[in-house]
Amino acid sequence: MANKKFKSLGVLTSGGDAQGMNAAVRAVVRSALHRGLDVYGIIQGYNGMYQGGDMIRKMNWDSVSGIMHKGGTEIGTARSDEFRTREGRLQAANNLIDVDIDYLVVIGGDGSLTGAHLFREEWPTLIQELVKKKKITQAKADEHPRLKIVGLVGSIDNDMSGTDMTIGADTALKRITDAIDMLGDTAASHQRTFVIEVMGRNCGYLALMGALSTGADSVFIPEYPPAEGWEGRLCEIIKNNRDAGKNDSVVIVAEGACDRKGNPIKPHYIKEILESKLNQDTRITILGHVQRGGAPSAFDRYMSTVLGYHAVDYIINAPEDQEPMMIGMRRNKVRPVSLMESVKKTHSIYDCINKGKYDNTIYFRGGRFKEALTTFRTMRQASPKPPEKGKKKLKLAILNTSGPSPGMNAATRTAVRLGLDAGHQMLAVKNGFEGLIEDDIGKWAGTVWQDGLLLGVPLWEPTENLPRKESIILSHQLLINIKLMDY
Ligand code: F6P
Repeated sequence: MANKKFKSLGVLTSGGDAQGMNAAVRAVVRSALHRGLDVYGIIQGYNGMYQGGDMIRKMNWDSVSGIMHKGGTEIGTARSDEFRTREGRLQAANNLIDVDIDYLVVIGGDGSLTGAHLFREEWPTLIQELVKKKKITQAKADEHPRLKIVGLVGSIDNDMSGTDMTIGADTALKRITDAIDMLGDTAASHQRTFVIEVMGRNCGYLALMGALSTGADSVFIPEYPPAEGWEGRLCEIIKNNRDAGKNDSVVIVAEGACDRKGNPIKPHYIKEILESKLNQDTRITILGHVQRGGAPSAFDRYMSTVLGYHAVDYIINAPEDQEPMMIGMRRNKVRPVSLMESVKKTHSIYDCINKGKYDNTIYFRGGRFKEALTTFRTMRQASPKPPEKGKKKLKLAILNTSGPSPGMNAATRTAVRLGLDAGHQMLAVKNGFEGLIEDDIGKWAGTVWQDGLLLGVPLWEPTENLPRKESIILSHQLLINIKLMDY
């Protein structure tokens, strides 16, 4: 049961909306009700907190029915200039105390969460001032000595340290992948190049993962600005891929991408380069807010629900003087981390970018980010690099086991390309273990490399007397990843 001293919990969404925020609100409301708390939805974030009255609404179980699958945020979000002032925050504190809110779950980006932290820090002095101004009694003030805060990161940008994923990032990435797949159809029909700008503010997660997921030719991200002369190298990549048989080219630009001197890299400039130097018929698509809309993915619904549940659990059980925490996911596990520590680390990434310390930037973004960048750089080549002299050449066979599942082609494609690029011979085992027993093993046909399209059934070129059993990679993604990390 909840500590009796704490009677009510408020939940708000703030900053840019993100798919999955509704699932998070639903989970917070229902988990808190289940724990016997009174729950209030604060409409339009800090603006509603400042306005009070009907903007701080009592929630029941049904208040959050039928919202989980919806994009946006049903309880709204808004800028609040008033909340930025002490007077505004004083009024907001008064409004929370009116309904006995001592717990606050804030769902938003780093700016919104920093705001929550400052509000909590100020809380004791705000309460004193309210007593002084006779807005509340001393007895009321004594009932609410502290405001306990837990943050959930809602942002499509996936830009926050301390969590592997932010609410909305998975859906936005899906939106990007779908859009690029569609653009690819028309691009290939006309042999065109598309330059696509994606969101992410100062973070390149969406651009990089979008590039990896769609087999783009090139990507520009804030964390890894290209060195001088990048225009020439971009043209070379596009030309090589075209020469190798590609019918279309895709360049993804993060909206915060810059060169090493800090000059923004914008789609129009890239288009100009490709048209003037390569005579490429080039189109620009700025995906914009479509990335933020629509139904959340299953992952965003799941993650937001789990995080919302844990946020309530944490806020109830954490010590009263606990610093504000953020509930995030690390390696698929829910993890509370210090909110301000995470904000600090996040900001230090932007400092590194501004100071040109790009190795640190990538390091701070985490192992997954670095691995994605390295993998992308290998995958986007038109052909494998020449084998290193004297390096042992392995024969690596890939086989699929069990039923087909989405992603198997992508895993196989990656394995084949990384293997070839590392100078090994890549073999395909047809029909899983049965094929292995029956020696149904062949070389990968060249087209797998050339056009990057691996259809459900591997292209087949049976050969005689192939040495086998030296090394086998099962095409279960995890195993592939582990094996390939060793190269
Ligand atoms: O932070 C989310 C985000 O969508 C960013 O990717 C983008 O830069 C920004 O918000 C757009 O903000 P607004 O909706 O205010 O135009």
